[in-house]
Amino acid sequence: MALKLETGARLVVATHNPGKARELAQILENRFQLVTAGELGLPEPDETEQAFVGNALLKARAAAEASGLIALADDSGLSVAALEGQPGVYSARWAGPTKDFDLAMKKVEDRIEETGSRDLAAWFTSALAVAWPDGPAVVVEGRVDGTLAFPGRGTLGFGYDPIFIPEGFSQTFGEMDPAAKDRMSHRARAFEKLKAALL
Ligand code: IMP
Repeated sequence: MALKLETGARLVVATHNPGKARELAQILENRFQLVTAGELGLPEPDETEQAFVGNALLKARAAAEASGLIALADDSGLSVAALEGQPGVYSARWAGPTKDFDLAMKKVEDRIEETGSRDLAAWFTSALAVAWPDGPAVVVEGRVDGTLAFPGRGTLGFGYDPIFIPEGFSQTFGEMDPAAKDRMSHRARAFEKLKAALL
């Protein structure tokens, strides 16, 4: 049977990150009744996979199982060409236990400098997974390419937004109107694929 997501369905969003929860709510365009894993007090599983899709599936499955609701999870991160794709799935972990993204962005800058490379190409990836409590799941991936800028600019957004300029733009994600980011971000692109698969 083909999997389908009915408009108005109650969905648990498997994230404890308020920045991501806000963007997902915006991108889902009020199609669903959303509750977050944080609001339900669900535990955060360890992200043990080496790829975004694996971690998104793991988080969606854990939330669906624990809540009995259909669950949506995002696993995302910044990949830097000069660092062979790092920090990638370790993007959140580069910010350390205090989630200090000034530290994480400095680390990206320092690591690139250590390589001696002048290549500032980078991309954000978002894997979005939907899991049903009785087992089936779907996962898709979206990507936005761009260039890094040091020092970072802008106070909007979250995470690595201040150092990322998407292709075709001059502002960083940290400077850009959030609605403009939501129209073309890695998360928005992944959601377009999810819509094509499930809606
Ligand atoms: P995780 O998916 O929970 O492992 O966390 C991914 C991390 O990647 C986040 O904590 C952010 O630091 C970073 N990240 C993901 N998407 C974005 C984005 O749209 N802007 C800035 N940073 C992001």
